[in-house]
Amino acid sequence: MSEPAGIDSIAFQTSRYVLDLSILAEERWVDPDKFRIGLGQHQMAVNPPSEDVVTLGAGAALRALQTVDPEDIELLLFATETGVDESKSAGIFVHRLLGLPERCRVIELKQACYSATGGLQLALPFLQANPGKKVLLIASDIARYGLGMPGESSQGCGAVAMVLSSRPRILALEPEYGVVTEDVMDFWRPGYSDSAFVEGKYSSRLYLSMLEKTWRQYTALSGRGFEDHAAFCYHAPVPRLVEKAHQQIMRLAACADCIDNKNHFLQLSLAYGRKTGNSYTASLYAGLLSLLDHSAGRLAGQRIGFYSYGSGCVAEFFSGVVRPGYQKVLMPSAHAAMLDQRIPLTCEQYEAFYTFEYPRDGRDCDLGGYETGPFRLAAIRGHKRIYEQVVKEPMTLSAPAALECSA
Ligand code: HMG
Repeated sequence: MSEPAGIDSIAFQTSRYVLDLSILAEERWVDPDKFRIGLGQHQMAVNPPSEDVVTLGAGAALRALQTVDPEDIELLLFATETGVDESKSAGIFVHRLLGLPERCRVIELKQACYSATGGLQLALPFLQANPGKKVLLIASDIARYGLGMPGESSQGCGAVAMVLSSRPRILALEPEYGVVTEDVMDFWRPGYSDSAFVEGKYSSRLYLSMLEKTWRQYTALSGRGFEDHAAFCYHAPVPRLVEKAHQQIMRLAACADCIDNKNHFLQLSLAYGRKTGNSYTASLYAGLLSLLDHSAGRLAGQRIGFYSYGSGCVAEFFSGVVRPGYQKVLMPSAHAAMLDQRIPLTCEQYEAFYTFEYPRDGRDCDLGGYETGPFRLAAIRGHKRIYEQVVKEPMTLSAPAALECSA
């Protein structure tokens, strides 16, 4: 029997700019403990106008491809709910930026924060049928709720790129899963709006009730219980909700004594998310990477349970087993440096980034002047987005208001 397919390499990319939530709390007249303790969120990654889901996704993929032959990639799945074009897949820009082979299928996937998990499951039959080939799955999003809105402190951005293969070096996926779809309006973004509408408390209740449904399905199908998993990773809109989800699983499993041995891994999985905020469909996989990067090789041969939730809604519980030697494929110091070297924003600078508007009438717009990862959105000309690899030394922060887009 062939080996189960799964994750062969994985990498994370977030913005070069960060807002500390204590600054936001002061500006919004909120007790900083509400964000830090009540939500468990410390910082929010904020993208400048020249960084979008394409540049973040390409940056993550550049790193994920370091130990992979790009010629083996025959399918690129780009999962996002922050697409840059209603027609063209964001993945096609990435395909060119990374010089991927011409013989490669590229498509964009959407179902709120669930789409990367959908992509992961859809890639498995392709890998079984083409065991010598690999899939590049990119999850990339920018979470926006509006200035001063209740969800503002749970914004953020980031991308996770995963190379999937039939001989994975990091995580082998298991076949059993619990999955549920229900037509609900807990969070949505109509085509005319660039920020989401959300029923925050209702969405949190749904997140937990779908966890129960998918967990029950998964345990019934797999015959596994709480103790069969060394660690759990959850979609992380805010870290506090993840802690509640974990407590809920323990209640369902009637496992009151389990808290100490798994809570440690849960906290490791939340480390990146606490510093970047919600990255929607990337957030579950940023949690996995955070766990693996901080686990010092202790998870080899161990099972991880995953809970994926995408508003609207589709939810899924599934599992995977960590491969021996997995830590050799990871790049924890690159991720630590990326997070440590970010540029702190004032609230005024954050608001200027947030309210920046791309031209909608065909005016040319040069987007130089911001620091980005390895790729940037350099300009918009004649309704076309111009992406390029960053070759110069990093630029210094200039006020977004200084941007001039010519008629
Ligand atoms: P909120 O109104 O900001 O916060 O909503 P709250 O009033 O519920 O307070 C949060 C917690 O802080 C409470 O604790 C307070 O007691 C505590 P809890 O009762 O939850 O244990 N608190 C304090 N603690 C210490 N010191 C203080 C203090 N004050 C209060 N001084 C909410 C929070 C998450 C709803 C909001 O941020 C929001 O609407 N976020 C956006 C939506 C969201 O994240 N929903 C989560 C589930 S839906 C989902 O995951 C899908 C999603 O990712 C999108 C997609 O699928 O694409 C969003």
